[in-house]
Amino acid sequence: MVNIAVMGYGVVGSGVVEVIRKNSVSISKKAGQEIRVKKILDIRDFPDSPERDLFTKNPDEIFDDPSIGIVVETIGGIGAAYEFTKKALSKGKNVVTSNKELVATHGPELLKLAKENGVNYLFEASVGGGIPIIRPLNRCLAANEIHSIIGILNGTTNYILTQMKRQGKDFDEALKEAQQKGYAEADPTADIEGHDACRKIAILSSIAYNEFVDYKKIHTEGIKKISLADMKYAESMDSTIKLVAISEKIGDGIMARVAPAIVSSKSPLYSVEDVFNAIVVRGDAIGEVMFYGPGAGKLPTASAVVADVIEIVKHWGTCGSYNWVVKDGGNVIDLKETR
Ligand code: HSE
Repeated sequence: MVNIAVMGYGVVGSGVVEVIRKNSVSISKKAGQEIRVKKILDIRDFPDSPERDLFTKNPDEIFDDPSIGIVVETIGGIGAAYEFTKKALSKGKNVVTSNKELVATHGPELLKLAKENGVNYLFEASVGGGIPIIRPLNRCLAANEIHSIIGILNGTTNYILTQMKRQGKDFDEALKEAQQKGYAEADPTADIEGHDACRKIAILSSIAYNEFVDYKKIHTEGIKKISLADMKYAESMDSTIKLVAISEKIGDGIMARVAPAIVSSKSPLYSVEDVFNAIVVRGDAIGEVMFYGPGAGKLPTASAVVADVIEIVKHWGTCGSYNWVVKDGGNVIDLKETR
């Protein structure tokens, strides 16, 4: 039996516990042994939860428990998530996360720390919610020189734009619905201003091009200025408006940007609606391949987190060592200079 701990019992953390409990039999078969949630860390109380006996407010109960081999970090943000991840890795525990902000900011350091301690830092759920993309990009497309990645990487903004298009709903109403459905970040500014999509394209680019891409260098615009009139205008041209993230390898550099774009009905991204995400990857051998599925939400994201946990239990050792070279002076082409 493998014991795991879940740090952060929010939308995703509670989904992880739910999926492990619900699918325990098939998960055990796939992993080769039983996976049990031993501890859950959260600062809040959950007296009515069926898991109430597992809760702790003291992270050392997890770090100092040698029987816990895997820590799921679903706290989000940097702060405590960063400190706890470093501590868990240093203590020889594998860490699995959906935390794109942490991966995009401190990925190289945390991957190095994991390697030094002979454990894994896996983050399939950090991009595309339930869509398998990190591992396929790193492994199944490993033979390719990746030329470009284009995608809709934020479920909240795609939901808002879809509601504006289909129902003529205004921005604030659609945002409220996305929050109620558990798609939005705790602070939805990260969604609507494009920062969430920016971190995700940085992570995908780092995987695809084998060098760390600093999200802070990526030109980013959100969807706040998109009005119903803009949407109608796009429709009159047999098109729609989407928040599109793009990255392209150009020589030694990487061109990347996140911005609303007019997408023609002929594009495969046109019909990606609601919380769905899609990622089109172009490589020299494969040509073009598209990944599509639910990009946010409790159970889809938990699906990706638990898959990483199973991956570790199946293989132990280091099953996901990403090579994120940090280039002196960076590698993201400054778009302002190319105008
Ligand atoms: N807030 C994110 C989104 C959650 O809407 O896509 C999934 O990363």
